[in-house]
Amino acid sequence: MATPNVKSEGNAVAWRIHKKGLLPVTMKKETISVPEPKQGEVLVEVHSASINPAVALSMGTRVLGMIPVETSVRYGQGSLATHVSVRVENLAAIPASIDTSLSSEEAAGLPLASTTALQLVRKARAGSKVLVLGGSTSVGLILLQMLKVEGARHIVATASGVKKDTVKTRGADEVIDYREEDVVQTLKRNHSREQFDVILDTVGDFTVFGACAAYLKESGEYANVGASNMKPDGSIWSNLSFLRNLVSLYLPWWLGGVPRKSSWVEFIRGALPEVTDRYLVTRAVTCPIDSRFAFDDAPKAYERLMTGRALGKIIVNIKHPGDPSVSSHL
Ligand SMILES: NC(=O)c1ccc[n+]([C@@H]2O[C@H](COP(=O)([O-])OP(=O)(O)OC[C@H]3O[C@@H](n4cnc5c(N)ncnc54)[C@H](OP(=O)(O)O)[C@@H]3O)[C@@H](O)[C@H]2O)c1
Repeated sequence: MATPNVKSEGNAVAWRIHKKGLLPVTMKKETISVPEPKQGEVLVEVHSASINPAVALSMGTRVLGMIPVETSVRYGQGSLATHVSVRVENLAAIPASIDTSLSSEEAAGLPLASTTALQLVRKARAGSKVLVLGGSTSVGLILLQMLKVEGARHIVATASGVKKDTVKTRGADEVIDYREEDVVQTLKRNHSREQFDVILDTVGDFTVFGACAAYLKESGEYANVGASNMKPDGSIWSNLSFLRNLVSLYLPWWLGGVPRKSSWVEFIRGALPEVTDRYLVTRAVTCPIDSRFAFDDAPKAYERLMTGRALGKIIVNIKHPGDPSVSSHL
């Protein structure tokens, strides 16, 4: 969350990386000049940023937004800084009706996860029977709320341990504990007579995809955003296994592929206003927050991300560095 069009002068403070390596170790906090916005960009004072594995605005408008992953990769720009310059299409004004109820932390956590969940919810219809793989991921928790808004008839989700309760509170009717049960066997046993209309995967569980002809309707679709098997070490093996899974999505049945429609759902630009108008204004969708870190502790936020066990977004507070560090509230 942020305030656009603050004055472009003086210094900003930013976490930056200058060499290859694992993120928490390579990050350095530095003082830099406040960025000069280019044509089509807006200077934004950042209040909170969230850690991700991606309008007409006047001075002082509260906005939510993000720096897309391709911009980060291409220009090395991130949002862990007191001021950032952002292309206007990557921002949405926070509607006046929720200006006081939407915290900076929620506004920081929602953009990438909610626009990703939006791509998945578009695959479901009112009355659909839906399987959500990874109900406790940030994307999954937001997706469950969106599915409720769209009138999904029955939602089954995977999650483990105590997280099952949170997943149910967010909208799942049934939860399969993926650490305790063989998910494929449970699905075959309980859902092959009345099959799913869609399977929405937020983790990339290709074992469930491989066997889905037993529990996904012939007219159904498996849609995936998850790349959890791609390890942050960037090793060739993790990249190869990810590529193999990606190819399996598009392999025709006569070459051994799965006889169901399947897709890799990509991030779509400009979807933030739709999320805001359809799901945030009514507060039907809220941001799950796993933990909060002070600006100086940003590397610890990455350490938390790398555990792969977070229950919601990991937030770094920049404008109010006195905010509590690491307090879980789900
Ligand atoms: N977040 C985004 O904005 C975004 C955007 C685009 C794409 N993606 C992709 O979407 C995926 C999810 O991202 P995220 O940030 O939402 O994840 P996340 O919040 O970091 O997910 C962590 C959660 O995933 C659960 N989990 C891990 N493996 C699982 C499995 N096999 N089955 C069920 N649950 C499992 C963990 O539960 P346990 O502790 O019980 O294991 C933990 O609660 C990632 O592959 C990411 O690359 C994310």
